[in-house]
Amino acid sequence: STQLPLKGKKVLITAGPTYEAIDPVRFIGNHSSGLMGFELAHQAATMGAQVALVSGPSKYETKHPNVVLHRVVSAQEMFDKTTALYNDTHIAICAAAVADYRPEKPATHKIKKDSDSLRIDLVKNPDILKTLGERKTNQFLVGFALETQNEEANAKGKLERKHLDAIVLNSMQDAGAGFGTPTNKIKFIDKNLTITAFELKTKADVALDILNEIIKRIYAS
Ligand code: C5P
Repeated sequence: STQLPLKGKKVLITAGPTYEAIDPVRFIGNHSSGLMGFELAHQAATMGAQVALVSGPSKYETKHPNVVLHRVVSAQEMFDKTTALYNDTHIAICAAAVADYRPEKPATHKIKKDSDSLRIDLVKNPDILKTLGERKTNQFLVGFALETQNEEANAKGKLERKHLDAIVLNSMQDAGAGFGTPTNKIKFIDKNLTITAFELKTKADVALDILNEIIKRIYAS
């Protein structure tokens, strides 16, 4: 029905930051709150979807019965859970701010402040979104891009490189948009490179806009 446009659809969403262990008590992380992903999950569930939400450490919770929340910590854990769920998915949206690098060998014990300098070797994490693009069968795959320069060109490059069906460009130019804010201002770019620009809104309303753009394209094809 029009009230439940995602009824019968399985939606997979990644959210939040990832924490990469340095030692048992320290990590490398980022300021992502997870709110955008949790709002996407809630709105998709309200539209009738069965939602799997794979989230890194976030204070948010979900009470919607159609959302199954999988909490993870590291990028590798997020990769494992997300790729395991992907085959049985109609729509995948990667909204997580995944750490690009992790400490190569996390220390077994808490690192002591014995030396005046400390070097931590980092290795690259797997790119979850890119892997989903490579393994795509019939899924509608959506990524996010947070750019500080050449925003549209970089987002379009990402869309093509990662074999996406659409990419959501977060504006860094506008106050109130992006990390840790309750609001966001986005452009939705589809694989024909058609750009739809939206006003600054709450992340709940941004989630609705994103899902409506996806729904239009799923039922047009
Ligand atoms: O390449 P970049 O990190 O800017 O791309 C951002 C997009 O890729 C986001 O959708 C993010 O969730 C996803 N991503 C990912 N795994 C990574 C890095 C980014 O899924 N390791």
